This record gives sequence, structure tokens and C-alpha cells, in this order.
Amino acid sequence: MVNLPDPPMSLLLELTHRCPLQCPYCSNPLKLERAGAELSTDEWVSVLDQAAALGVLQVHFSGGEPMARPDLPDLVRHAASLGLYSNLITSAVLLNPRTLAALADAGLDHVQISFQDADAEGADRIGNYAGGHAKKLAAAELVRDAGLALTLNFVVHRHNIARVPQMIAMGEAFGAGRIEIANVQYYGWGLLNRAALLPTRAELDACTAAVFAARERLRGTMVIDYVVPDYYAAEPKGCMGGWARRFVNISPAGRVLPCHAAETLPAFAWPSIREETLADIWNHSEPFARYRGTHWMPEPCKSCDRREIDWGGCRCQAFALTGDAGRTDPACELAPDHAIMAEAAQEAEAPPPAFVYRRVGANLGVMA
Ligand code: SF4
Ligand code: FES
Repeated sequence: MVNLPDPPMSLLLELTHRCPLQCPYCSNPLKLERAGAELSTDEWVSVLDQAAALGVLQVHFSGGEPMARPDLPDLVRHAASLGLYSNLITSAVLLNPRTLAALADAGLDHVQISFQDADAEGADRIGNYAGGHAKKLAAAELVRDAGLALTLNFVVHRHNIARVPQMIAMGEAFGAGRIEIANVQYYGWGLLNRAALLPTRAELDACTAAVFAARERLRGTMVIDYVVPDYYAAEPKGCMGGWARRFVNISPAGRVLPCHAAETLPAFAWPSIREETLADIWNHSEPFARYRGTHWMPEPCKSCDRREIDWGGCRCQAFALTGDAGRTDPACELAPDHAIMAEAAQEAEAPPPAFVYRRVGANLGVMA
């Protein structure tokens, strides 16, 4: 009898890559999917059915901007009918009383609004969207007043890291149960813009101190999730809870992936939900099995007592920085490639180049 892996707990649906904002650290791939390639409503409904049957518990509706899809309330309603906990990950610039009412009525459980900064000037410049910050503030008020669970998410980097205390104050003012202070993760657009975004060690240390002090002060009131950049870490993060262990991602065109950045790995032929079932892909596809668990690990991971804690770190980062997804994540201080991180961190000491904004047809080779 074949031993099947445990089912995924979370499903992230990238309903579309369309988005009104152009954040230079977007987690979408550099090659953005066009609207005509997106799965249809019926195909997404089938994905939700298959996910629930497989044992998935929560579904994250993401993008791009998931609210660019007019069928979002139908998909939320279907998820609710299957007993799936639903979370909307949104820029919120399309949230208004009418669209929020439709989503709440469909049974949406939770809204995560991403903010680019604590002030409008910085936020609108980073997202390259005039008036966006004001719309987000209004949307967060609507979500709170509708009684939906609300998380404020702040992606931090050298252009806004000094304002982390103000970001935390925003979370308090909204009565958010949770906020996320997440340093940029450097894959795809983030890696392309790394020299413009990576903070210095001193800036990161000040940010960490502010977060830890606020956690103490707000204990029992507001949870603060905190993600540091790997470039200053001694141990890697257990990316996605380990490759193909808890998490599955579906791209707008239906490619099934173990993480949002997996399409940056060129040697993989990613399976399509248009051709195979989710259960077959999760249980039997070679790219999912390749780095699942510990069987693939080289030294030093193979004999390390953290190998079932961080699972060797991030495969996409290992590929981005060494050209081999099967190496130990260079974020680990034991990795043979760890010196790459310190060399890259030197970029943070130089004046930042201009952003390459995320958009179809961006000039990907030029940082100035
Ligand atoms: Fe994790 Fe591998 Fe580093 Fe050990 S050697 S801490 S398993 S990345
Ligand atoms: Fe792909 Fe970490 S982002 S494994």
C-alpha cells in the first residue's frame, strides 16, 4: 500500500494577476498571467470542491487583486457552503459598502488588508496608485464596522521601516485583532528590486525592538506577526511549513504549486488543474514529492537536528541565490553558500536605485 502525504491545510487561490497597484515587491511571478488565461468560475468552483474533499480547511482568496474578479462573492459563497474558512487578501482599493456587503452576505470570514506605509505620501508612491491609502483606510473602517475579522498587513523595507511604530498604532486605532509586520521576501519582483528595498542591519534592529516592545505592551489585545528578512537571519524560516506539507497554491491559469514563488524554478513542469485532479497532484506529482520531507536533503541539513523544524529553508530562495533548488537555503548560517547573504546585504548601505514597478511589460533588466 502506498503511503499518501497528509492533506494540505491551506489553499491559496490566485484568482487573477490583475491589480490596480504596482508594488515593487509583489509575490506574483515576473511573467504575469493575462486575464484571458484565467480559470473560469466553474473551474474555480471545481477547485473548491476538490480541495474540501481532499481535507483543506481554509481558503485564501488572493491575486493580484481578487476583487478584480466579479465572481468573487459566488466563490466565497461556495467555499462557505463547503465549510471552508475563507480569507480575502486584498489591497482594498475596490472595497466599498456595496462590494463588502456582497462578500459578507456570501459568508466571508476574514479580511486581510495590505498597507504600503503608515502615511499616504509613502504608501501611494510605493504602490504607484494615487489616493490608494485613503481608500484602504475607509475600507478598513467598513470591515471593522461590518464585524468581520480584520488583519492589517504591512510589508516593510528601507522606504518605510522607520514608521513601524506608526503602523502598529494604526492597528490599535482600528481595533485589529492581528497585524502583520512582514519584511519583504526576496523572490520575483522583490529580488529584482532588492537593492531598492533591503534595509540595513541597524534599521532592521530598530524595527525588531519596536515590534518586541509593542508585543509586550499589547499582550492579550492585539497579536503582532513579525517576519524578518532572511538576509540578516542565522536560521532559515520553515517556508510554507515545508515544501508540499501544508499549503497548496493555484495560479490564475490553474497551475498547481507548493508555494507562490514556485514558478521561478525553471526545471519544473507544473501540473495543471485543467488536466489532473488536485488529489492526484498533491498525492502523486513528482514536483510536489521532490522536496517534500527530508529524503532530498544534502548535508548539512541531512544530519541537522532542525531538519524537521525548518525543512532546509526555502527552495525558491536556494534556487534564486545559488541556481540549485536542492541546496541548503543560504539563509542558514551552516549553509555552504551563507556568505551570499552578507554580500547581498552590502546593497543596503548604498543609495537605493529607483523601483521597477510591477506591471506587465515592465523593463525587467534595468534598475535605474
Ligand atoms: Fe535548517 Fe538545514 Fe540549516 Fe539545519 S542545516 S538549520 S536543517 S537549513
Ligand atoms: Fe517557494 Fe519558499 S517561496 S519554497
